[in-house]
Amino acid sequence: MICADAIITTPRLLLRKPTVEDAHAMQSAKEACWPELQKWMSWSSDERKPLSATLEFINADDGQYIQYCAFHRVSGAFLIATGIGLQDPNAGLYSTGYWANPNFLNKGFATEATNAIIRFAFAHDDVKKMHICHYEGNDASKRVIEKLGFDYTDTEEKSHARHSDGKYLDTHNYLMTSPQNLPELDVSWTKGPTQS
Ligand SMILES: CC(C)(COP(=O)(O)OP(=O)(O)OC[C@H]1O[C@@H](n2cnc3c(N)ncnc32)[C@H](O)[C@@H]1OP(=O)(O)O)[C@@H](O)C(=O)NCCC(=O)NCCS
Repeated sequence: MICADAIITTPRLLLRKPTVEDAHAMQSAKEACWPELQKWMSWSSDERKPLSATLEFINADDGQYIQYCAFHRVSGAFLIATGIGLQDPNAGLYSTGYWANPNFLNKGFATEATNAIIRFAFAHDDVKKMHICHYEGNDASKRVIEKLGFDYTDTEEKSHARHSDGKYLDTHNYLMTSPQNLPELDVSWTKGPTQS
């Protein structure tokens, strides 16, 4: 069982479950990059845009996805939405993903936040494999996945209809079976499992 209420700390970030107090910061970031999100995020259908959908995301507690958000340790700014998804618990297969506040791109925050969340996930005995994917043309996300050290597994051709224009895109899949290839990161957490 993945711990949903840990506080995870890295050199620049604090990751925790978002609360309703974070909704407006998340919503303004989401609105600022909505066209990009509709190009690249599987969940970004039109009805996911309003504040009510952000609140629904924050309050969701179905055990299928554990939401974590990264905030700047000094300024408190909302930086990254990420999390841990349950794909196949019998196989120990989980997934992750991310989107970033567009005011803070290309500073390594998505890479740092996802590195931390993957280390945290693998510290749970039931997590054996982490999956991540990106759609055809999403070169920034591809670069983050490469920097994290994932192994490419396969491509599902024309498997996703992009929300922005309906174009069918390839999905490129990647796996990680251990945190050992992740870039070094000083990370700790206040609750949950002990890092093995
Ligand atoms: C993908 C995303 C999360 C990256 O966030 P970020 O905090 O800027 O990521 P990082 O700074 O950790 O790393 C970005 C890397 O991509 C590179 N990059 C950025 N735009 C790029 C592009 N168009 N082509 C190739 N590389 C690109 C950056 O140079 C950086 O690599 P570097 O450290 O080697 O220079 C952000 O762009 C985003 O939110 N995009 C929209 C949502 C999305 O695509 N989510 C992922 C779905 S799979």
